[in-house]
Amino acid sequence: MRKRITARAPGKVNLSLAVAAAGADGYHPIATVFQAISLFDDVTLQAADEFSLTVSGDDEAMVPDDASNLAWQAVELVAAEYGIDEAAAIHIHKTIPVAGGMAGGSADAAAAIVAADELWDLGMTPADMHRLAAQLGSDVPFALTGHTAIGLGRGTELTQVLGRGTFHWVFATQGFGLSTPEVFGEFDAAEREQELTIEDDLLAALRAGDPLSLGKTLRNDLQPAAIRLAPALADTIAVAHEAGALGAVVSGSGPTVAALALSNADCLRIASALDKVADRVLTAHGPVAGARLVS
Ligand code: C5P
Repeated sequence: MRKRITARAPGKVNLSLAVAAAGADGYHPIATVFQAISLFDDVTLQAADEFSLTVSGDDEAMVPDDASNLAWQAVELVAAEYGIDEAAAIHIHKTIPVAGGMAGGSADAAAAIVAADELWDLGMTPADMHRLAAQLGSDVPFALTGHTAIGLGRGTELTQVLGRGTFHWVFATQGFGLSTPEVFGEFDAAEREQELTIEDDLLAALRAGDPLSLGKTLRNDLQPAAIRLAPALADTIAVAHEAGALGAVVSGSGPTVAALALSNADCLRIASALDKVADRVLTAHGPVAGARLVS
């Protein structure tokens, strides 16, 4: 049998996402704090004569199974960069919500890079992987590095954040997705110039491992735009607060809402309240490591 490699990568939540007006390239400069959370996608590659892609797991019908899939593009990019004259059969097993603002597609691309490096024995360095990841999408480098990190520029200039402890999260997904460009477009239509800041209080909360302080400092400048496109998200956030969440925000460009809980027990209480207003509710913890080989 031909060599078969599986890599796993985490989804993310933005603890803080400050967005400025778009630059000439159409991208918005951001200052964000990413946290990798324990919802993972697995990407399996097997050497093949031509490219193919299959998907299993949650939301599988929403995932493209052609060259528009970011994991497919990642494998092709690695092959092109290293002169590999071989294709791969790609399989993605999904747990990260699709089109949810949790960087599921980016996680798949990151896992695909790690798997392709191993499949073809390329000996890529972390810097090599980061360079290709940034070409694929703004959130792909973070899916490689994981843990908690500040992201500047488009989100690809990463600096690890020191922290301690584990945070407990509840994620409320919706039956519909929100397109990232559409949410940025809605942001452009209405938002005033924002300052690209990261609150000292947030970094202090991470250093101390203090969920109460972290809950108070969660911020997402894209949230008003996401709520204008999907007004029900405001209710979802309110339900999370009423159920005892320490903080609740739209995750990235949405529509997933991330609620921070004090403990595992609180997670379950918040999850059962959110279950009444969400399509699906998932619990997870963070931070976790970035993309890595599993077999
Ligand atoms: O880089 P990525 O493919 O994830 O971005 C998808 C789209 O989201 C971009 O084409 C752009 O419209 C928007 N975007 C942005 N500013 C960012 C990141 C993404 O405007 N910092």
